[in-house]
Amino acid sequence: MNKKTILTGDRPTGKLHLGHYVGSLKNRVRLQDGYRCFFIIADLHTLTTKPSKEDIEKIADNSRDMVLDYLACGIDPSKSVVYLQSAVPEIFELNLYFENLITVPRLQRVPSLKDMAQNAGIEEMPLGLLGYPVLQAADILLPRAHLVPVGKDNESHVEVAREIAKRFNFLYGEVFNLPEVLVGDVPTLVGTDGKGKMSKSLGNVIYLGDDAKTVEKKVAGMYTDPKRISAEVAGTVEGNPVFEYHDVFNTNKAEVEDLKTRYRAGKVGDVEVKQKLALALNAFLDPLRERRDHFASQAGLVDEVIYDGTLAMRAEARATLTEVRKAMGMASVWNRIARKAEDVKKKREKAGS
Ligand code: TRP
Repeated sequence: MNKKTILTGDRPTGKLHLGHYVGSLKNRVRLQDGYRCFFIIADLHTLTTKPSKEDIEKIADNSRDMVLDYLACGIDPSKSVVYLQSAVPEIFELNLYFENLITVPRLQRVPSLKDMAQNAGIEEMPLGLLGYPVLQAADILLPRAHLVPVGKDNESHVEVAREIAKRFNFLYGEVFNLPEVLVGDVPTLVGTDGKGKMSKSLGNVIYLGDDAKTVEKKVAGMYTDPKRISAEVAGTVEGNPVFEYHDVFNTNKAEVEDLKTRYRAGKVGDVEVKQKLALALNAFLDPLRERRDHFASQAGLVDEVIYDGTLAMRAEARATLTEVRKAMGMASVWNRIARKAEDVKKKREKAGS
């Protein structure tokens, strides 16, 4: 049986958090036996908002941290390919071909790009940032992926990849699958401040690498129902981030139901609800911590995972680009000229000798 292909990944901007886990990582781990999996360390994408030399300097260490998070979650390098985007030259080439298959107004309608520019304090849209989804399409289509597990904020990018794949196939012949998006069962996890999604730039995150004490502290400081000035006041469960986390991470459903009932009736203190949440989160994170320690103790292991994965991806990339150039007729542009030139050279050599 031929396995279908998954491609997804992240920008190496630092450590991953619970939002990454429920949005995408959980699906990756779940699906890595049923699919051929490729996980990209999208360092070229970081250049779209952070092109400075100081930022580039940090990419290698950030990539190591991120891959350690992958391994801690259960991504298995003997099954899945983890690779560094900038070390696969074919991505640059495919990106350029794709830039001609989509319009500027179409990209201007991608909702996430304006947010990214704003968060980075960029006033006018750089060409590279506008092209962010095109580069992502090159990532996705390079191994001819069928499925792309991502967080909700990346849905519109996968749609761009589908459109580019369709356009390519229409113009040049069927080379690409039309990739499907797969959003996790918690599309956007709220941050600990209850204001918006969990996001490093907002400082409302619990990292997968946080130790037990840090988790306890962050949970104790979480935003909850502000009307509850004491435990006797009836509280609201809906939209309350503490209960959202209980729903997602507490495997003891009876306990969660009991807490909700007592909360609504004004019969439980916030302290107890939060303590139980911290216990649940730490129970969830403990196996990740064990795996992280196991992998982190082996010097150079993470680097080797990235190295081997990148070599594997390069082979994959070369095969796809051979087909792409053939389908487009790009291969024969140079070949015709080169053949003629070599021919002429040979004849001249013969005549001269
Ligand atoms: N855009 C993703 C993010 O938000 C990173 C990424 C780059 C990606 N290329 C990809 C995700 C390809 C899925 C598939 O960080």
